Amino acid sequence: LKIAVFASGSGSNFQALADAIRAGGIDATISLVVCDKPSAYVLERAKAFEIESYLFNPKEFASREAYEEQIVAKLQDKGIELIVMAGYMRLVTNVLVEPYYGRMINIHPALLPAFPGMDGIGQAIAYGAKVTGATVHFVDGGTDTGPIIAQRAVEVQEGDTKETLGARIQQAEHAMLPEVVKWIADGRVSLSGRVVTVSQC
Ligand code: GRF
Repeated sequence: LKIAVFASGSGSNFQALADAIRAGGIDATISLVVCDKPSAYVLERAKAFEIESYLFNPKEFASREAYEEQIVAKLQDKGIELIVMAGYMRLVTNVLVEPYYGRMINIHPALLPAFPGMDGIGQAIAYGAKVTGATVHFVDGGTDTGPIIAQRAVEVQEGDTKETLGARIQQAEHAMLPEVVKWIADGRVSLSGRVVTVSQC
């Protein structure tokens, strides 16, 4: 399974996935990192794994559609079969969603449909939620609205800050993301309407 990881920041989820693939047992390769920020640490991580990155500057394009067309061309050129969005801080349009629907996943730091969009961790704290977590879902045209593949719960503890809670959510993400990618690589994930089923192996 040929994967492209889309990221705008640190890339700790990229790292977790790349480490898990390197350790073996997941029939997948990360062939490309797509990034919109020249200062994103994920670019260093990609280099360390000798994985090609495609860095683009959104400001150089007339529209979101325009840069996504370039991205899609690159993805097709590389034969990408699965897109993993891990901290990619941009909304997507139909240019990307249409050709990759069902083959594009995102990780979000909350138990969707609670706390979608920006700052899911801060939203959970401000709301006073006692349990939050992480979600991996297929990407559709909305903001964190696509079919849910997997979720992990994380308790909100008294005195939690965005940093302390965020660190525990990230642990959950780093465990869950490689697991989901393995399910997909093994052909166990199917989508019916908005309900995802993971078959037994
Ligand atoms: C993760 O918490 C993910 O849920 C969110 O952005 C964060 C990315 O972190 N979408 P990293 O760049 O993988 O470290």
